[in-house]
Amino acid sequence: MAVQGSPLEGVEDLGTEEAEEDEEALVTGEEEEGEEDSVIGEDEEDSVTGEDEEEEVDSGPQMVEDSGAGVAAEVPPEEGGGGRGGFGAGKKITVEPHRHEGVFICRGKEDALVTRNMVVGESVYGEKRMSIEEGETKIEYRAWNPFRSKLAAAILGGVDQIHIKPGSKVMYLGAASGTTVSHVSDIVGPEGLVYAVEFSHRSGRDLLNVAKKRTNIIPIIEDARHPHKYRMLVGMVDVIFADVAQPDQTRIVALNAHNFLKNGGHFVISIKANCIDSTAPPEAVFASEVKKMAGENMKPQEQLTLEPYERDHAVVVGIYRAPPKDKK
Ligand SMILES: C[S@@+](CC[C@H](N)C(=O)[O-])C[C@H]1O[C@@H](n2cnc3c(N)ncnc32)[C@H](O)[C@@H]1O
Repeated sequence: MAVQGSPLEGVEDLGTEEAEEDEEALVTGEEEEGEEDSVIGEDEEDSVTGEDEEEEVDSGPQMVEDSGAGVAAEVPPEEGGGGRGGFGAGKKITVEPHRHEGVFICRGKEDALVTRNMVVGESVYGEKRMSIEEGETKIEYRAWNPFRSKLAAAILGGVDQIHIKPGSKVMYLGAASGTTVSHVSDIVGPEGLVYAVEFSHRSGRDLLNVAKKRTNIIPIIEDARHPHKYRMLVGMVDVIFADVAQPDQTRIVALNAHNFLKNGGHFVISIKANCIDSTAPPEAVFASEVKKMAGENMKPQEQLTLEPYERDHAVVVGIYRAPPKDKK
């Protein structure tokens, strides 16, 4: 199993300086994780809007920063922006594909991870957007903040595989208000599906609003410990992503895998050490979770920690019911 990826070149600008800026938001998130009805800070309550907030600048044939007199310019970094002064702070910027299909890097004054917005003209949680005009077509991208998304943190940390790509069917456990779910929705695109499971009704309200505008998200407001309650809604999936921050989360993932994950499908699990055992060293917690996975027909293939974006978190990626190596 590969352990600990290395940072990607050119995308490290989002690193330590922002880590300090985002410290407060990070701490707030940590206090609220895993608790029903208090998961996402107040700032997110009214953030699933963003309608008609975009104001276009003359982009010409090249990509430019969306002036975003509403969302893009006004939202401070700790509430979802991509850094001080925006993507390019008024400069010309370019977007190039990331190694992970469906993910992009915006190159400007500061480099940023972005996804292609499925709902042009709208932010989900106050994140910055920028657009490019190609003839009649307008392509828009949304900043993906690694301080607010463990999947983004894993990508910037150099994870080898996320197994989420255009057309994928994804089960997302611990969807919260739909912040990361919205980026997964962008990645899988109109041919893909995201079954987003969240048991907090408060977060679920925001999630439902996100899903109203994104037809590839199927919101499921249920406890992921009881997959039989939503079995009629869900088909077989290619990958399960889990971020429930619960002591029994490996069991939760396994229960869902046994019901919905295809043989040879993959799992991506974010582990927050102190949600599982606050007395043991994080490395020991990660090792014990990996051991539990092996007992559930889940074979871990890669593990990395999420510094500098999250403390004492790891992401484990693996395969479910791997076909026997030498099977003809
Ligand atoms: C760390 S937060 C998820 C953040 C989210 N993944 C994101 O990046 O935007 C954990 C979420 O899992 C939810 N959760 C915890 N246990 C759950 C369970 N048994 N079933 C469904 N959701 C659960 C919590 O309510 C919370 O919203």
